[in-house]
Amino acid sequence: MPDGYFRTERPGREYPQIMPRSPAQRIREVTALGAETVRRQVVGGGGRGSKSTFLSGRIAAYLTEHSSPPDEVLDDLSAVTAALPEAEMQVPAEQGTLLTILTAAIAPRRAVEVGTFTGYSALCIARGLPTDGRLLCLDVSEEWTTIARKHWARAGVTDRIDLVLGPAADSLADLAEEPTFDLAFIDADKVSYQRYYDLLVPRMNPDGVIIVDNVLQYGEVVRPRSENPAVVAVREFNRLLAADSRVQVVMLPIADGLTIARKLPSPRGGD
Ligand SMILES: C[S@@+](CC[C@H](N)C(=O)[O-])C[C@H]1O[C@@H](n2cnc3c(N)ncnc32)[C@H](O)[C@@H]1O
Repeated sequence: MPDGYFRTERPGREYPQIMPRSPAQRIREVTALGAETVRRQVVGGGGRGSKSTFLSGRIAAYLTEHSSPPDEVLDDLSAVTAALPEAEMQVPAEQGTLLTILTAAIAPRRAVEVGTFTGYSALCIARGLPTDGRLLCLDVSEEWTTIARKHWARAGVTDRIDLVLGPAADSLADLAEEPTFDLAFIDADKVSYQRYYDLLVPRMNPDGVIIVDNVLQYGEVVRPRSENPAVVAVREFNRLLAADSRVQVVMLPIADGLTIARKLPSPRGGD
């Protein structure tokens, strides 16, 4: 794990308060329990794995009950991941289902994931690929991606996934100009989001889709005083993305916020 990464995934962690005063504050003022533990308490356990801290427990549970459940491999992978201290980094089940649905709708020949961890989102994307589709996964952790590979094999998607270990910005910069991508999922270190996006946009086909995770930073993006480096970076990234004429953008309130950016065809969509 790169230095400082864990901190950037938990924006409230650097600003502990002694007494939480409201559910919203309990999320923001994360205590020594850790962000995920506090979040689970606030949403009352509703919505298995939900990261949508702005939803009530009942609504989160209702959404989960009316969405397709994960299968056994995904459930097992979640259970293995849950034993790790960094478990909260995994995308929640409902986001994984959305990734599979979007991938199947886009039918990408080539997809790329920046930030793979234990492989949950990659498995969801791989399952939506067409028969000739491939997913390139980029991460720095051999340990975490060993868990990923094991579950990809169990799910029968290993032959659709290429895993490259190393700093993702280097891996992206080293890629040949062709072939280009139809789908990208950005979910690595938040302070590098802009760099990943800048490297990816020229490599996306017209109408290609870039999906970006954790764009709400547990609500910290709307708190101007939050100076956590990840929050500051994501807030600025969100601002620049919304103003980028090369893409059409929508931000969805699912999980910790998900942005979907469609690369516009030329001439407006020039690199
Ligand atoms: C939030 S987790 C990804 C979660 C994953 N998408 C999932 O659904 O389980 C972020 C991942 O980014 C990786 N990462 C952090 N900094 C990186 C870097 N500079 N280059 C490549 N990967 C990096 C971490 O090792 C970690 O596995």
